[in-house]
This record gives sequence, structure tokens and C-alpha cells, in this order.
Amino acid sequence: MTNGKPTLVLGIETTCDETAAAVVERRGDGSGRILSNVVRSQIEEHAPFGGVVPEIAARAHVDMLDGIIRTAMEDAGTRFDALTGVAAAAGPGLIGGVIVGLTTAKAIALVHGTPLIAVNHLEAHALTPRLTVPLPFPYCLFLASGGHTQIVAVLGVGQYVRLGTTLDDAIGEAFDKVAKMLDLPYPGGPHVEKLAAYGDPARFPFPRPMVGRPDANFSLSGLKTAVRNEAARFDSIEPQDIADLCASFQAAVLDLTADRIRVGLRLFQDQFGPPSALVAAGGVAANIAIRGALQAIADRAQTTLVVPPPALCTDNGAMIAWAGAERLALGLLDDMDTAPRARWRLDENTQTPAKFTNTRARH
Ligand code: KG4
Ligand code: ZN
Repeated sequence: MTNGKPTLVLGIETTCDETAAAVVERRGDGSGRILSNVVRSQIEEHAPFGGVVPEIAARAHVDMLDGIIRTAMEDAGTRFDALTGVAAAAGPGLIGGVIVGLTTAKAIALVHGTPLIAVNHLEAHALTPRLTVPLPFPYCLFLASGGHTQIVAVLGVGQYVRLGTTLDDAIGEAFDKVAKMLDLPYPGGPHVEKLAAYGDPARFPFPRPMVGRPDANFSLSGLKTAVRNEAARFDSIEPQDIADLCASFQAAVLDLTADRIRVGLRLFQDQFGPPSALVAAGGVAANIAIRGALQAIADRAQTTLVVPPPALCTDNGAMIAWAGAERLALGLLDDMDTAPRARWRLDENTQTPAKFTNTRARH
């Protein structure tokens, strides 16, 4: 255990289309400091295809990672033998990229005798808010990116209970697909958000899948299909029509997200008592309208909304380094034979702590 002593961790992120490395310090009091955070997005490589192409991603990680790690170490003004740990995202994600990142971390660990931490990418999103503000457990996390849409009870490091997930597309993926069908650039989220500001959110009454259901799951594919069908009815589509489609789509996402999180918070409260905060992470949390909806829900639930700065919401190395440092502080290290994983549920090894298995618990 290194609890009490400051640690210095290199974090490596290669699970999707960002090649990233960062050095983060975790102090003995549990606070953190980012010494460097280098992210190279592959958006330009994937843009012609309207989505991430796994083979292109893996090749770009191989080409870029060494240089990015070198820059992260230089920016931090440190050396490999000064590190207390080296962390890599070991999944879930595109397996080619995960192999590149984890193998590189193992090589560094082996050469310099540094402890290795194999981090779950989702755990990194879940813990990163604690890098920026003092945030006690338990809290309720809404994670929405291009690959994931989940509501998670974060009970402690390594202790997560998934309260809701998407049954089909992720929210960011739905934004990207809607953008693609309207001929907007990739990634679509920011473009759809921008055009939505000029559109009529009430022009197209799109469905709000799952709204009113007692579970906290999401479904986006019916909404996406409804947008596709509506867009296909135009012989020639005008800019105002596109803005109206974006606004109406985003309004549906806001409504269904608000409803699902309201239910998620209720499930949280029933099982674990009041959360210390509602926390949003993932690229979708960059959407101002969605942030507004989350703020309203947090206000109504009498809790605080915590949203890390955009650079820490989207994929980056600092989040992996930080999760590595949090695990390292508890002595949670990994072996050289740890395998990369395309799939890895966040709550796989969670045993709900006794203090939460009270009489209110519904299992
Ligand atoms: O977390 P992230 O950078 O990468 C992963 O997918 O892991 O999230 C990227 C996703 C993309 O689907 C993108 O379209 C979406 O987040 N996104 C947004 C916005 N900015 C990014 N979605 C809606 N509104 C935005 N402003
Ligand atoms: Zn992510």
C-alpha cells in the first residue's frame, strides 16, 4: 500500500481513436495534479469513413504511442525510473489498440522495474472527477460517450454497481449516426449540437424510447431510425430542415436522458442512500444542453452536479494515470500476464460493501 505517500504514475490510453499519455501525481491526502497530458486524436484518419475503423486505429497507435509517451515524460519533467507506477487501459475497447497500449506499459514496467496497473477504461472515467475536486464515495455517475452509455453507482475504488445501460446504441453513437445521415462531419455530436441551436425542437415529434420505465436502461436505435425515416422524406433538404431535425433529435435525447437519470438516481437512493454528487463524464457531457438538463435533475434531487473539464471528459491519458494511482494507493497491482480485453464489465468483481447492504436494499 502506498496510501499516505505521494505517487507518480504514467497513464496510457489506446482503447479507441485517441492515442494518449499523461503523468499524474497523487498526493498522500488523496488530491491529484496533472503534470502532463498529451492527446493525439485520430479524427482525421477516420473522418472519411464516418466512424472509427479498428485497423486504422491500431496502426496509428503503433506509429504514435512511443513519441507521445516521450512527450508526456518530457512535459512532466520526469524520468521512467522516478515513476511509482505505469498504468494502461487494458479494456474495454478495440482490441488492436488495447494490445498496443498494454504491451507498451508492460515493456516500461519490465525495463524499469515499475509496478504495472491494468486499468478498466470505464473505471478511469468513473474515478477521474476525483482528480479535479474532492469527491467522496458514493456518487452517481452518468457516463455517455461514443461507445458507452451507463448509469453507475460508484461506491469506492473497484466497487461499482451498474444501475442502467443502453440496450443498443450509445448516446454519442446516435449523435454520430444522425450527423452522418445529414451529411455532417464526424464526430457528429458537436455539429448536431451547433445546428440544433438554430432549429425548432418541436417540429418533428420523435419518440422518447424507454421513458416511464421503472429500470434505468436506455435505448437509442428507435429514435435514430425515426430521424432517418424523416430525413428520407425530403426530396431536397434545406439547411433549416437539417437544423430542425437536429433540434428535434436533441430534444428527444434530452427528455429521455433526463427521465433515465431521474430513475437511476431513485434506484441509487433506494440502495445506497443519498449520493455525494451526480457526476457526468464522456464526450457527450460536453453538450451544453445536456449539461443543463443534468443540472436541473441534480437541483431537483438536491444533489450537486460535477462535470470534469471537457479535456478530462473525453478520452485522455490523465484519467488512466489517475485510476492507476487510486488503485496503486490501495495496493491493487497487476501481473505481466494480465490480458488485454475487448469486453470488460465495470461491475464484474464488485461485492457491495456491507455498509450498503442495509434493509432498504432491493436486490
Ligand atoms: O468520450 P469520447 O471522446 O470518446 C469515446 O467515445 O470514448 O466521446 C466521443 C463521443 C462522440 O460520439 C461524439 O459525437 C460525442 O462524444 N460528443 C458529443 C458532443 N461532443 C462530443 N455528443 C453530443 N454533443 C456534443 N457536444
Ligand atoms: Zn471513453
